[in-house]
Amino acid sequence: MTNFAELVQKRYSCRNYKATGIDRELIDKILETAHFAPSATNAQPWKVFVLDTPESLAKARRAYNREWFATAPAVLLICAQTDKAWTRADGKNHADIDIAILTDHITLAATEAGLATCWVCNFDAQLISSEFGLDNNCKPLVLLPIGVPATDDIPEKKRKSVSEFVEWV
Ligand SMILES: Cc1cc2nc3c(=O)[nH]c(=O)nc-3n(C[C@H](O)[C@H](O)[C@H](O)COP(=O)(O)O)c2cc1C
Repeated sequence: MTNFAELVQKRYSCRNYKATGIDRELIDKILETAHFAPSATNAQPWKVFVLDTPESLAKARRAYNREWFATAPAVLLICAQTDKAWTRADGKNHADIDIAILTDHITLAATEAGLATCWVCNFDAQLISSEFGLDNNCKPLVLLPIGVPATDDIPEKKRKSVSEFVEWV
């Protein structure tokens, strides 16, 4: 088992996947691990569609038309059930935060399982909603391609130094 510090270094946005298909059991295992993610009031306002058929993948690819994206053998369509999420007294709905935590858990669980992922939010959300018949309370937030990375190379992490954003008060 990889330790956490190594795992976060190993995870990166993969934009090239091997053509090999995806093992459904492995995806199930990753989701089983990730579903212990916390959420506000434990509302768990998420819905995940696993796209691994030519038809469903074609729909995702229409909504995010990039050559590299089409190399992924499977894509998770991660949605927020906004009506199920906790809303704070000032009106802030916490679905986006909850979904981000779940997605992050999925990316790390996938990395530990030897797979790679890439957050994709720059897709046509309206098209996804209509292609998959999502209702107004099921907002598509993330398309997460997942698969075996085409290379073993892990790109260098470019990050601000911690001292640039941390302030002890
Ligand atoms: C909320 C979010 C949205 C993102 N959307 C996209 C996207 O639409 N397309 C893309 O290629 N990468 C997307 N990324 C990946 C980022 O570009 C990437 O995480 C960042 O450059 C850091 O690189 P790393 O993930 O390899 O560490 C997104 C990442 C996050 C967290």
